[in-house]
Amino acid sequence: MKAHINGAWVETKDKIEVVNPFDQSVIDTVPRCGPDEVDRALAGAVEGAKIMKSTTGYDRSQMLRRVAVRMNEMVDELARTISMEEGKILAEARTEVTRAAEVIDLSADEAKRLGGEVLPLDGAPGGAGRLGFTLRVPCGVVLAITPFNFPLNLVCHKVGPALAGGNAVVIKPATDTPLSALKFVEILLECGFPPLAVSCLTGAGSKVGDPLAADPRVRKISFTGSRDVGEHICKVAGLKKVTMELGSNSPLIVMDDADLERVAEATVATGFANAGQVCISTQRVIAVKKVYGDLLDVLAPKVAALTTGDQLKDGTKVGPMVRTADAERVSEWIDEAVAGGARVVTGGERDGACITPMVVADVKADMRISYDEIFGPAVAAISASNIDEAIALANDTRYGLSAGVFTSDLNNAVRFAREIESGNIHINWGPQWRADLMPYGGLKESGMGKEGPKYVIDEMTEMKTGYTTGNVTH
Ligand code: SIN
Repeated sequence: MKAHINGAWVETKDKIEVVNPFDQSVIDTVPRCGPDEVDRALAGAVEGAKIMKSTTGYDRSQMLRRVAVRMNEMVDELARTISMEEGKILAEARTEVTRAAEVIDLSADEAKRLGGEVLPLDGAPGGAGRLGFTLRVPCGVVLAITPFNFPLNLVCHKVGPALAGGNAVVIKPATDTPLSALKFVEILLECGFPPLAVSCLTGAGSKVGDPLAADPRVRKISFTGSRDVGEHICKVAGLKKVTMELGSNSPLIVMDDADLERVAEATVATGFANAGQVCISTQRVIAVKKVYGDLLDVLAPKVAALTTGDQLKDGTKVGPMVRTADAERVSEWIDEAVAGGARVVTGGERDGACITPMVVADVKADMRISYDEIFGPAVAAISASNIDEAIALANDTRYGLSAGVFTSDLNNAVRFAREIESGNIHINWGPQWRADLMPYGGLKESGMGKEGPKYVIDEMTEMKTGYTTGNVTH
């Protein structure tokens, strides 16, 4: 496929191969963009922002509705693209497409809600006769830097609200998974968005992402990805508005009054979807001692039963990781934990980018598979004496994106909700669940700002405050 720059589809001499991570076969090529493409894309986006600014909320809402309809019509094609470039099993890829269409539909709602406030300025000393108000206006050019793990939906979470807010958008999709984003751009154009309003630059972060982030023509950056890359982008960006959705090592606390069958079911569903490559995957299962052993007994066979392999084949439950190097890294972290006294209860056989889903028991807080983000198909089981220790262990991390608890005691649930340092809280389910309409975002080093079209729209627009003087007294 081609990149979309300054209103046109363009090629470069140098290309990047997009590969299926299961067998490394080349599925397509995309341009390897660099400084020249960045400059042209931003020049076009500045013009695109002027065009977008003159559109009405009604027009933008109508275009976004058409995009959502078109995406639902194209579920099969888009899901196959996601699955082939990223490694997600087809069923999960289909869910991603329908979620992404929903995000665009929710964004269409927000395009009509860009209201302001009337301010009672006569309540201020010297404010008599002044009628105050706020207005929401577009930021201008929004940069969306998106990760590989949801190559369509996380593009939509940024681009939908940015367009709803009347901005032009430059997309920098993950280097490994650009095809879904490019197909999405085709749909946006087909549904009426001005060609200058949307660019999509394929290529490496250092050659494309950094110069885009640093450029003063960009007024707002929305990024999803790792904590370290997020910190790097903030440094490069300087004084710009930023929304950061970063990593996590999400905990799931299991109390002794929990239904262990249900805990195991939730751990399987929330720990191994997309081969564990979800920012909010269940990574640390922290169970109180009384049920720790029993939980492992119930959980292990369920995890062992997950068929791993070709993501396009019926019956596969866990596909490959996005890169073989990531699967190798996961194996290294597990070996390190085992050398420190942890034990692999099930899984861990690696073949290329595929790893059979793992439960690793007797993990300690100072092991990397506990304190860092593993982003792979491995769940670390940790035992705690009581709820005090369980919450302390869960909070003993720089991350704070998502956390769950299983308990049938309302007091435990409320205490958890109050004390857990996490942006998203799950009571009687694992941390990896998200409705696209809800506010979603992390505390601590897991991020800044919330996504969900209703919540991010303020971040995709600027607020102006004004007033009139004169005879307006009531
Ligand atoms: C993420 O991994 O960042 C997003 C998870 C989701 O949208 O389900």
